[in-house]
Amino acid sequence: MTNTEWLFTQETHPRLATTAEVTALLANPGFGRVFTDHMVTVRWNEAKGWHDAMVESRKPFLLDPACAALHYAQQIFEGMKAYRGADGDILMFRPLENAHRFQRSAARMAMTPVPDSLFLAAVEALVKIDKHWVPEGDGSLYLRPFMFGSETFLGVRPSLEYIFCVIASPVGPYFKNGDSAVTVWVSDEYTRAAPGGTGAAKCGGNYAASLLAQSQATANGCDQVVFLDAVEHRWVEELGGMNVFFCMADGTLVTPPLSGTILPGITRSSVIDLARREGMTVEERPYSFDQWCADIASGQLREVFACGTAAVIAGVGRIRHVGGELVIADGAVGPVTTRIRDLLTGIQRGRLEDTESWVHHLT
Ligand code: PLP
Ligand code: COI
Repeated sequence: MTNTEWLFTQETHPRLATTAEVTALLANPGFGRVFTDHMVTVRWNEAKGWHDAMVESRKPFLLDPACAALHYAQQIFEGMKAYRGADGDILMFRPLENAHRFQRSAARMAMTPVPDSLFLAAVEALVKIDKHWVPEGDGSLYLRPFMFGSETFLGVRPSLEYIFCVIASPVGPYFKNGDSAVTVWVSDEYTRAAPGGTGAAKCGGNYAASLLAQSQATANGCDQVVFLDAVEHRWVEELGGMNVFFCMADGTLVTPPLSGTILPGITRSSVIDLARREGMTVEERPYSFDQWCADIASGQLREVFACGTAAVIAGVGRIRHVGGELVIADGAVGPVTTRIRDLLTGIQRGRLEDTESWVHHLT
């Protein structure tokens, strides 16, 4: 897509990272620790609408201490990736879906929505100027569009000014053990989102609320926390930063429904489509923690995997909770998980045919 609508003032970083520095940083970037040279910022107020669109050097914001977002957390974000295809092309996966979810998150947080064309133009402008930061091989460039209420005002109401920004971070695997199966902690104490709350929005507050449970998960030797529903503390919802699928002995895939309290993952929706295309039955239905335990004991449950942009497809080998530990199958990544991961990553990286036009080539 060619951007003809939005004009970005472009400032090249006065001291760009050298090729040697970029190469060294891309060798082992980890997740979310390394950043590219530039960022995109666009501002909104009632008088000017979206204005001051800039591709600029990545640098700290100058914010008034009374900046609305610092007090009432009017903030949303997205997570998406740019990949380097086999022929050197830069590819993005379903970026319009991120634009749409960003608009839904904005609506829930009473913020001004960013139009599709601006969202895509901003992301593309950043990837283009920093394209030498897109890793080869299994790595990717993680893109983090975000927006916050930037008005200097302590009254509690929607901000009258917003800053929309995109930053980029070359990343490797999200989990420290790479593609090995992860261990999850089921929290019986904390919940993530209640009916009528903000669970379906990608807003920072949801993650702030998950951190204590995530710390407990870490203290118990687990990689991620599994949240149960807020009303009955019974139904599996999702992990702190990813959706979850259960593979049954009869080949059915089960995943919790989009009830308004979980994030509608773009990976989740893609997995559902891919699995159905593979001839699998996919059921979006409530699944309880008790049933999860019973299905492990009876052998009905064969595999569990988590999915999301950062995590890709991560097999879950063990669950821990206050009552002890359960091992799923033999604790390894199973064949269905591997098949779905190969299909998804194959399409994302241009190795497999993109029959649904999910892949966006940067021109
Ligand atoms: N659920 C939560 C809470 C997340 O943070 C994420 C990550 O973005 C997901 C699910 C998966 O969403 P997606 O597949 O769009 O990255
Ligand atoms: C993502 O997958 O993009 C997320 O925002 C999840 C987070 C755990 C990094």
